[in-house]
Amino acid sequence: MALKLRKLSYALGAEVCGVDVSQPMSEAFFGEIYDAFLDNGILLFRDQKITREQHIDFSRRFGELDRHDALPRDRHPDYPEILLVTNEPKPDGSPSDSRYTGRQWHSDMSFTLVPSLGSLLRGITIPDVGGDTVFANMYLAYESLSDGMKNMIADLHGIQLSGTRKINSEASGVPRAEEQKKLNPPVAQPVVRVHPETGRKALYLGDKVKRFDGLTEPESKPLIDYLNQHATRFEHIYRHQWRQDDIVVWDNRCTMHLALGDFDETQRRHMERTTVLGTPSGYVVND
Ligand code: SIN
Repeated sequence: MALKLRKLSYALGAEVCGVDVSQPMSEAFFGEIYDAFLDNGILLFRDQKITREQHIDFSRRFGELDRHDALPRDRHPDYPEILLVTNEPKPDGSPSDSRYTGRQWHSDMSFTLVPSLGSLLRGITIPDVGGDTVFANMYLAYESLSDGMKNMIADLHGIQLSGTRKINSEASGVPRAEEQKKLNPPVAQPVVRVHPETGRKALYLGDKVKRFDGLTEPESKPLIDYLNQHATRFEHIYRHQWRQDDIVVWDNRCTMHLALGDFDETQRRHMERTTVLGTPSGYVVND
């Protein structure tokens, strides 16, 4: 059976039509899916009414799964391979720790020494409107820079911090930010990253980077801001409007993403993510 794809935007993404990810799949057929993943940066599978076990099994086709030791508070208590991204209150009624997960441009696990290859996010409860996720094609972001800028950033490393800006600035989130800092010391990652499978260069930055290694924050900020703004221009992005039972798979090595908080927070948004381990990258810095 040939894979049927539908482009999601000019910049990136394709919907895989007519595939049930819970069904057995030959190596050859999965190979076609994996090639489409490398070519498009994001794949969307609609109407996947699957169990957690099936989510994990399909994710394992992409590689070994992270057990989320870097984010222990957000993993599912019975399924360490599943990370919760939810605003459903905890059983004791207190707010969910992961209600603001992803509310800044980032690539998953960039703040660790083994950043993720890719992630598979399942939309389980979706607000009536909003709660979209936006993705940026970081190959395009890099390739559309001038040669002068490419030369200037060639050897830079961005220091990636864990935790989100919103959490850091919220009184209720301070202990979590401190916990994250202890668990995940700052890691410097190359600003220009060579994709280990395609060999293409991609920009590797986002809102977790506050400065470049060897430069101060005020020195770094204008360039970080410019590159992030450039990367997230309309021409470089795809905005995904979730439907229940969507699975979106993205390649963290050539995309970054942002979960929008543009929804009525009295409504529920519950997503579950598996995270595929990547290859080692970066080094720890004292910051
Ligand atoms: C994430 O950053 O992994 C979550 C994205 C989302 O909830 O839309």
